[in-house]
Amino acid sequence: MNIDGLRRSWSLLVEQGDQAPLYFYSTLFAASPEIREMFPTNMAGQRERLFTALGHTVANIDQLPRITEYLRSLGRDHRKFAVRADQYPLLGRALAATFQHFLGPEWTRELADDWSSAFAMIAQIMIDAAAESERTSPPWWVGEVVAHERRTFDVAVLTLRPSYLLPFTPGQSISLSPSASRAWRYYSPANAPRPDGTIELHVRATPGGLVSSRLVYGTTVGDQLHLAAPVGERLALTQAGDRDLVLVAGGTGWAPLKALVEQVAAEGGQRQVSLYVTARSRGDLYDSAYLTEAATRHHWLTVRHLMEPRTGGNGPGGLVDTLAAASGGWRDRHVYLCGGDSMVRATLDSLRDAGFHEGQLHHEGLSTGWYGADWRTQVGSSDQRSHAKVTHER
Ligand code: HEM
Repeated sequence: MNIDGLRRSWSLLVEQGDQAPLYFYSTLFAASPEIREMFPTNMAGQRERLFTALGHTVANIDQLPRITEYLRSLGRDHRKFAVRADQYPLLGRALAATFQHFLGPEWTRELADDWSSAFAMIAQIMIDAAAESERTSPPWWVGEVVAHERRTFDVAVLTLRPSYLLPFTPGQSISLSPSASRAWRYYSPANAPRPDGTIELHVRATPGGLVSSRLVYGTTVGDQLHLAAPVGERLALTQAGDRDLVLVAGGTGWAPLKALVEQVAAEGGQRQVSLYVTARSRGDLYDSAYLTEAATRHHWLTVRHLMEPRTGGNGPGGLVDTLAAASGGWRDRHVYLCGGDSMVRATLDSLRDAGFHEGQLHHEGLSTGWYGADWRTQVGSSDQRSHAKVTHER
């Protein structure tokens, strides 16, 4: 397989912009109308995701262990869409047709063979991982809503009870779909695993976010939701070894960090935790009762609230200033950040300037795509992330 050839041809496809995924899906759906029904009516969000994943794979194809784990995770995750192994070649054919259409004479027999082998390898890794996970877990769990609390106009805290135990690690994300819908969205449990298996979710209704709006405004106790297997390791506590922590939360990005606080407590409070909760206004602090109670109960936890301007964490006396000032004493700490992109980006910049190295900084990623950055920017980029990014509606 000529890796340079694969990358060069992908770059040529990238130059076509949105036309390439548009052509790909039109070809796929025309050839296999039954596949159309598996995708949402509005393809605006979905269209680029498969290309993002392929771009990420091509960019990293010479680093097999990393790309294999990435594709295995994607394959396991496809079980929730009820994808069958015999459907993969249909996508492979649509991809070849797309290359042929846009590359014209540059789409040589040799290139076609290389792409056919590469796609077959990608598909096989995904198919094998899905088959393996079939032996140990269902494609999705049914979870009953046992509590639904509207904390602010657009934020709800839900408690779900899965019908069977759904094992997860604090910091991971779980994909969720209202059972009458085919749309899935990621949310992070806001608790460490509990003996009764219940899961707390913090959901903000975002403009255009069909799942989140449904969960906040159209869901009630007794409703049933579908939950898929947990994904993502980037916010796991194991990333920090036994180091003390700084946690920086914005909006419902507080949820996975709350799960980490609970995990530290469950492990006996062996480390110091400084928690910063940023909000745009007092009314946005939707979990303050818990924060006050936790700060009183746990001697190892300090909690500070910071009001942030809409543009991010750069206001005078704001989060970035505060962290920069305090960071001298925290050189050995690991920092976990979760919230809106602008807050996370500004805070990361400030911490890097203050001398923190990448291995100390844990966040879910800042790109706009799913499972990697935007597909147009992938080829040739040395993407150092070892885990999939999961896009949330925060
Ligand atoms: C190389 C193989 C494939 C790759 C790289 C790939 C990649 C992706 C990615 C990245 C997503 C977005 C997931 C999310 O946002 O949660 C996705 C979703 C999806 N994929 Fe695939 N996929 C592949 C094969 C297939 C096949 C064979 C089918 C079956 C027809 C399929 C059907 C779907 C469906 C139905 C969705 C959900 C769409 C939605 O609700 O937005 N995929 N795929």
